[in-house]
Order: sequence, then structure tokens, then C-alpha cells
Amino acid sequence: MARLVDVTDVNDPRLADFRDLRDVDLRVSLEGEHGLFLAEGAKVVRRAAEAGFTPRAFLLQPKWVDGLADVLAASDAPAYVLGEKQIAEVAGFHLHRGALASFDRKPLPDLGTLLAKPGKLRIAVLEDLVDHGNVGLIFRNAAALAVDAVVLTERTADPLYRRASKTSMGNVYSMPWTRARGMEDILRALRAADVVPVALTLADDAITLDELAAMRHERLAFVFGTEGAGVHKKTEQQVDHRVLIPMEPGVDSLNVAAATAVTFYATR
Ligand SMILES: C[S@@+](CC[C@H](N)C(=O)[O-])C[C@H]1O[C@@H](n2cnc3c(N)ncnc32)[C@H](O)[C@@H]1O
Repeated sequence: MARLVDVTDVNDPRLADFRDLRDVDLRVSLEGEHGLFLAEGAKVVRRAAEAGFTPRAFLLQPKWVDGLADVLAASDAPAYVLGEKQIAEVAGFHLHRGALASFDRKPLPDLGTLLAKPGKLRIAVLEDLVDHGNVGLIFRNAAALAVDAVVLTERTADPLYRRASKTSMGNVYSMPWTRARGMEDILRALRAADVVPVALTLADDAITLDELAAMRHERLAFVFGTEGAGVHKKTEQQVDHRVLIPMEPGVDSLNVAAATAVTFYATR
């Protein structure tokens, strides 16, 4: 059972995991350095615990102690209990759902291990997507639409960062994922595992998504690109197919998370 600790001082050093959550640069270096991540909201906290991550500490308004009783009962981490206003002072902003927990990260799996599953396989590759909200939404779509794993390039935003896990509704914890150095390594691993790589792009010579779906590839990996420039030109040249989701005239493109949902559904 987690130890309930009534905190009186918002500057208590034991609250370090929960401080200044809005400072992205500070959080990214703190979380990377100390191998932790933060979950916000009772549902997201519960999902992280259910996915087997070990809690380091909880920070809760009194009303969430009962709501998370089962999660607290299964952990021996400290649970700091503070009022709404004091939690806002620690975190640096007002939390609508006053339940936070910090967890230890786990080592990421090898790319080869993620691709080892025999038979039908669907992989999403996120090339340099820096927006945490989009990354979280893509994980949610991937979990809902039967994607097996997500592969990130080095520059892609951290799925375990608070904003990403929140928009994913906690699906970042159960969806298998890993990070690879760059597209060269990813494409080599995909081909070695008999996975057909395709890029979702607006390129002039792209086939349509319906045409790709009609090919009925058993093992497919979809590369999605940045909101600004899209998939890198070099990557577009190296994949087996460039694939377009046809749109009405006058619309430039879909948001990348929307593009993933359409793609996963059409090729499921
Ligand atoms: C906002 S779009 C990038 C648009 C960028 N200006 C371009 O020319 O590619 C972000 C990503 O979503 C995917 N995407 C968005 N709309 C798409 C469409 N209609 N067809 C294929 N992919 C699309 C692509 O992977 C793209 O890299």
C-alpha cells in the first residue's frame, strides 16, 4: 500500500518529480536524466500502472485518493496529498484532474523484436514529428485501429511526455514502440523483416490509398512526415510506394494524426 503523506510545504524537496510541469525544456532534460515520466489524470495514471510501469510517487488532491485506491494499494511509492491550490503552485498551473504520478521508464525494445511477429503486421513510422499532441493522438489511433507497433526517428517527440500521454488517453503505455537512429536503419530493418515500407505524401507520382489497400500487402509500414515539410525527399525515394489520401480541391493536407487514422483504417 502506498504511504499517504500529508504535505504542508509546497517547496518540499520530495515533490521534485512534479515541479514546473509547463517548462518543456526543463522537464525533457529532467525526465530523460532521471529516467522518469509523468502521468496526469486518474485514468492515465491507472493505465500506466496497469501497463506494468513502476510508480515512483503520486501527488493527489484528497478526493483522488479513493478514486485511485486500487492503484495505491498495489504500490509502495509515497502518495503526497495536497490541496488543489498547492498542487497548482508545485506544478506551475491549475490541473483540471488533480491526480499526478511519476513512473520509472523501462528500456525500449529492439526494432528487430518489434518486427519479429510472423504474419500480418502494421507498423507506423513517425519521421521527426516534434509535436507531443500529434504523437499522442497517433498512438491512440494506432491502438484503436490494430497497428502492431510505432517506430520513431531520433527527433520525434517523446510519447511518454505528459502532453503526449494525455492526448493518447494512456495508450502510449500499452502500444509497443521504439526509437531508431534514422530512416536508413529503419528501412533496413523493415526490409530484413519482409515489411513493405510506404510513405504517406502529397508527391505527384503517389498512388492512392485505395490502390495501396487493394494490393493487400500482408506486412506494411507507413511513414508519416512533419506538419511543415512532410516526409523527407530522400525517404520518399527509398520506400516502395508513395501514397496519397485524395482530398477535395483547395485543401493543402490533412493534419498528420488525421492522416494516420484514415490510413490505418483503410489498410486494416
Ligand atoms: C500536414 S502534412 C504535411 C504537409 C506538407 N506540406 C507536405 O507537403 O507533405 C503532415 C503529414 O501528414 C500526412 N498527410 C497529410 N495529408 C495527407 C494526404 N492527403 N495524403 C497523404 N499523406 C498525408 C503525410 O505523412 C504528411 O507528411
